[in-house]
Amino acid sequence: MKKKSCLAASALLLVAAAPAAFAAPDWSKVPKRDVVVFSPGATPIEWVMKKSDHSGRTGINKGESCVGCHEEKGGLNFDMARLAGKELEPAGAPKTLSFPVTVQAAYDKDKLYLRLSFKAPKDAAAGADREEASPKHEVKAAVMLLGAKVPMAAQVGCWATCHADVRSMPGADPNKKKYISSASLGGDVYADYFQWKSGEAGKGAVQLDGHVAEARVNKDGKALVKAEGENKGGQYVVTFTRKLAGSAGDLALAEGAVVPFGIAIHADRTIHRFHHVSLGYTLGLGADADIKASKQ
Ligand code: HEC
Repeated sequence: MKKKSCLAASALLLVAAAPAAFAAPDWSKVPKRDVVVFSPGATPIEWVMKKSDHSGRTGINKGESCVGCHEEKGGLNFDMARLAGKELEPAGAPKTLSFPVTVQAAYDKDKLYLRLSFKAPKDAAAGADREEASPKHEVKAAVMLLGAKVPMAAQVGCWATCHADVRSMPGADPNKKKYISSASLGGDVYADYFQWKSGEAGKGAVQLDGHVAEARVNKDGKALVKAEGENKGGQYVVTFTRKLAGSAGDLALAEGAVVPFGIAIHADRTIHRFHHVSLGYTLGLGADADIKASKQ
């Protein structure tokens, strides 16, 4: 008699666990889109918008996007020698200047699921800023979603937050964090972001849910449910589960939304601007976009 009630109890547990298990997308069925991330050096928005530095400025003013000019045949058409050189990266560029991140996205009635798969290089330059304090995160992966009212959000992606006077830029204030000009949390003039950090060897990974408005804030977000990552010999798979519902610092998402976003990978313990970043792409929830999230 005792045994039987025990069995019944475990059967109940199984039933209770089932809905959560079903909610996670079957990633083998979700389409994949490669997004190339690259070492951008010191090319903040002020550089991008200065004609003598970047002739692309004229096109941006006419409404063209970074991706429109720089993505070709699934890759980026940058002059890699220039990205590697002292002109754009005085501190030294990594050997691996760019690599693909496979992006998959899905959503259901209340959550967004984003999955990034990539091989993290381990060849940052000696001059790059590194994680010194504990935990030493070997790799960090972040996604930034841009508010609909951020100027040029769909054209420039994360560059809306990247400025010449932000810490780690040549000659900049070491304490100034990235920001959005004329930001407003209430008016959707901010970037929402979440990040997975691998954690020091033997210690658990860390997740972060923040936003960038007048300054970067590494906390206060309530939408990120979890960020999970695995590392199989340098091959990383990072999955974010995020509520669609928004609040201050968490952009509200809904079916039909097309959200500008970008990705940043800090490999080889790098911090600050020494990351590999994507240009600005769009994520569509059941709507046409660069990456179309599949409905679950
Ligand atoms: C209208 C087309 C156009 C747009 C839009 C554009 N670019 Fe460019 N970009 C160029 C051209 C052309 C060059 C080559 C160097 C030059 O002429 O300034 C270039 C060069 C660069 C370089 C230096 C590496 C190289 O290949 O010389 C970087 C980095 C860069 N662009 C980033 C961006 C980013 C980031 C954006 C969006 C915020 C952007 N570009 C938007 C046309 C464009």
